[in-house]
Amino acid sequence: MRKVLIVTGPGGDAQGWGDMKVTETLCETLNSDDLAAEIAYVTTTKEFLQALSGRRYDIVWSALYCVSQREDIIGLGEDDEWVADMLDERGIPYIGPSARTMKELIQKYETHRIMRENGVLVPDFNLVAAGDALPEVAYPAFVKPNCESRSIGISDDSVVRNREELARRVRYVHETLGQAALIEEFLPGDEYTVLMLGNGRLQEILPGLVTVDESHFGRHRILRSDLRGVGLTKISIPAQKERAEEAREITRKATDALECRDHVRVDLRVDAQGRLRVMEVNGIPGLKPVKSWSPQIYSLYHPSPGGPMEEYRNMIRLIVRSALERHGLG
Ligand SMILES: Nc1ncnc2c1ncn2[C@@H]1O[C@H](COP(=O)(O)OP(=O)(O)O)[C@@H](O)[C@H]1O
Ligand SMILES: [Mg+2]
Repeated sequence: MRKVLIVTGPGGDAQGWGDMKVTETLCETLNSDDLAAEIAYVTTTKEFLQALSGRRYDIVWSALYCVSQREDIIGLGEDDEWVADMLDERGIPYIGPSARTMKELIQKYETHRIMRENGVLVPDFNLVAAGDALPEVAYPAFVKPNCESRSIGISDDSVVRNREELARRVRYVHETLGQAALIEEFLPGDEYTVLMLGNGRLQEILPGLVTVDESHFGRHRILRSDLRGVGLTKISIPAQKERAEEAREITRKATDALECRDHVRVDLRVDAQGRLRVMEVNGIPGLKPVKSWSPQIYSLYHPSPGGPMEEYRNMIRLIVRSALERHGLG
């Protein structure tokens, strides 16, 4: 029987798949006839390394990119040690993308750069660190933190119409989130999120259309931080077959270019010319049963007689099985 060591800590919600309740559900879901799981809740790198050496397991699944005390934002610093690096150094198998890919995914600028080099459509983009000069860009533009998730730092003010608004929003990202600002071309069209599960021949790429009741939008049809994680977003199978196919193709190209594994989720929007562009690739997507987008998409494509919790279980097991097989532990 294979055993999964599930790693989380104070940053589980900001960095990873969700809070401790989500992690406990994940653990209960995995404990079954043929798989076992236990949680290591760690608040320091030292505690993480102690858990690694003191417990018995076959594979690690981490909700954390880096062990951090922060609960509010990802807020990674230069000196943070990466969980995946520490696992690689010790030759310990883990679920999810490689250390290199994880670092590329957490920095949206890096992700964009790699995708663009590989012919994947992304919005025009510029990175501005504190003290850098502002670039010349086309308006409207969209300003966001380079290394966050859950729409942290995103409001209607993220859409800027001139240089003055741009300067103000870039300063806001520097000062309140303590990180570089990513300036992108504004993508005015519909929003999609695509689930990538498993690897190789068994890989599944499942597109979902993201909608919010129009009455919740303010000046712009964007997913502001107050619209996230509160049950206001709805996911559906895209009715337009051509769009679904386009989403599949661009996701396959993006996840291949970035060498994604096991489970990632790709966020996309339609540009002013009507084509999909990738906004970001999530390396540790949300796993809140029934509510996070990955389980919702999986349920739409793979309904089970037992309902959403059975569908959730099937998806979680598929992720773990894919990773075990990849490591020859199947
Ligand atoms: N270039 C853009 N144009 C229009 N809306 C955007 C753009 N980038 C992000 N958004 C909006 O902001 C939300 C969050 O951005 P995203 O890049 O997915 O970051 P995260 O989900 O990690 O916070 C998106 O779901 C989308 O609604
Ligand atoms: Mg996103």
